[in-house]
Amino acid sequence: MGVSAATPPVPGLTILFHPDLERVGERVLLPQLGAGREARLSRKEPGFSPPQPPSPGGAATARPLADPYLSRVPVRLLPAGTGAIRLLCDETRMPIVVGGVPVAGERLIGAAELERGVVLMLAHRVVVLLHLLDPVAAPAGLPAFGMIGDSAALVDVRREVQRLAPLDVAVMLRGETGTGKELVARALHDASRRAGGPFLAINLAAVPAQLAAAELFGAARGAFTGAERARPGYFGLAAGGTLLLDEIGEIPLAIQGKVLRVLEEHTFERVGGGRTLHADLRLVAATNRDLQRMVEEGRFRGDLYFRLAVFPIELPPLRERASDVPLLARHLLAGIARRHQLPAPRLAEGTAELLASQAWPGNVRELANVLERALILADGPELRPADLQPLLGAPAAVPPPASAGERDRLRRALIEVAGDKRRAAGLLGISYRALLRKVKEHDLEGVPRYRG
Ligand SMILES: Nc1ncnc2c1ncn2[C@@H]1O[C@H](COP(=O)(O)OP(=O)(O)OP(=O)(O)O)[C@@H](O)[C@H]1O
Ligand SMILES: [Mg+2]
Repeated sequence: MGVSAATPPVPGLTILFHPDLERVGERVLLPQLGAGREARLSRKEPGFSPPQPPSPGGAATARPLADPYLSRVPVRLLPAGTGAIRLLCDETRMPIVVGGVPVAGERLIGAAELERGVVLMLAHRVVVLLHLLDPVAAPAGLPAFGMIGDSAALVDVRREVQRLAPLDVAVMLRGETGTGKELVARALHDASRRAGGPFLAINLAAVPAQLAAAELFGAARGAFTGAERARPGYFGLAAGGTLLLDEIGEIPLAIQGKVLRVLEEHTFERVGGGRTLHADLRLVAATNRDLQRMVEEGRFRGDLYFRLAVFPIELPPLRERASDVPLLARHLLAGIARRHQLPAPRLAEGTAELLASQAWPGNVRELANVLERALILADGPELRPADLQPLLGAPAAVPPPASAGERDRLRRALIEVAGDKRRAAGLLGISYRALLRKVKEHDLEGVPRYRG
């Protein structure tokens, strides 16, 4: 989990789906499992509560799952040594599905599985995640910093942002694509004393190697062909603020020493210009690559790496914090719906579980993209598993069957892509030819001209 938590996580349950949607996100800690005693789960116990007390300092009220379809006879969770948990149930009283597979009497949940989080569906009604929770998750007073989620891993990230933001030190953000590195970089800026200054980001993967020095440090007038005027460069433009060096692993070796000098001495020179300039900025670096390995292979300077790695923040991949997925989904859907001027759909039964059990190699960005496409394709106030299924994993090979909602979905997709039929086909997960056929069939030629 990268950044160490102040307190070790304990096993616990988080509600991913409940017929009373208000209860999604409620949680309960099961410290007895860590202490060698059993925990019981039924309609009547244990009590779940929201991660943050409703009022600061006010105690949260704990409520059992209470759903009448759940059995009053508890499912037993027993510590099984080396961090594993044994689940014992009577499936004739209450069917339980673990990670998509029905449990017959007993199921052993290994430590690694627990670490990732295991989705339990109870009586086809309520979905909970059994996972490791931070006992003091989201303590009152820890700001969200624009980050949705209250898994132990994300609370760690928020703690680090709170600790490092005011310090004016360089920070290195590590994490897979779409995990929120840029979001955290902005949060570090916004919570720092430089918040009034600019926040700039340069993606070093997008800068040709021969231009990188001029882009970063600026260029004196006449420094090279085409440089009729002096150019300030990012280090100058970000003065008083924060500069995100995105994809730092792509920075040419030849100028890594100059970046190190900015970090150590706060000085730099423009390309072709002799005057030494003062760098008044905070640097945040981000990468999804294994920089340490690049150092070993001689592709990244060790001194720069070690200077940057003093204050690292590790962004956990989404699959390691499945309990954040339903909360994120609701948050992202609200934003997407607002942009499309559509009502925000609800998550139907089974949808949260489906979302939480995906691997999400593209992390939060991928989740947002899938939800956006699902919202455009869905016809109704709910997002059902069937709306998402074709968008997950391999793209759907079979075009969806014609239905009353099809015309509307086609029309919305065409409006979304401003009439670009190839993109509309991609959005709907059907072939271009199938799209042309359907456009003709539904008489949608010319959309989006006629929006009515
Ligand atoms: N915890 C979160 N809460 C809300 N939104 C999030 C969260 N994490 C990421 N996002 C959103 O997901 C999208 C991707 O995040 P971001 O651009 O910060 O990722 P990244 O790590 O910089 O990805 P890449 O390596 O591909 O550049 C953004 O729209 C961001 O706002
Ligand atoms: Mg980014």
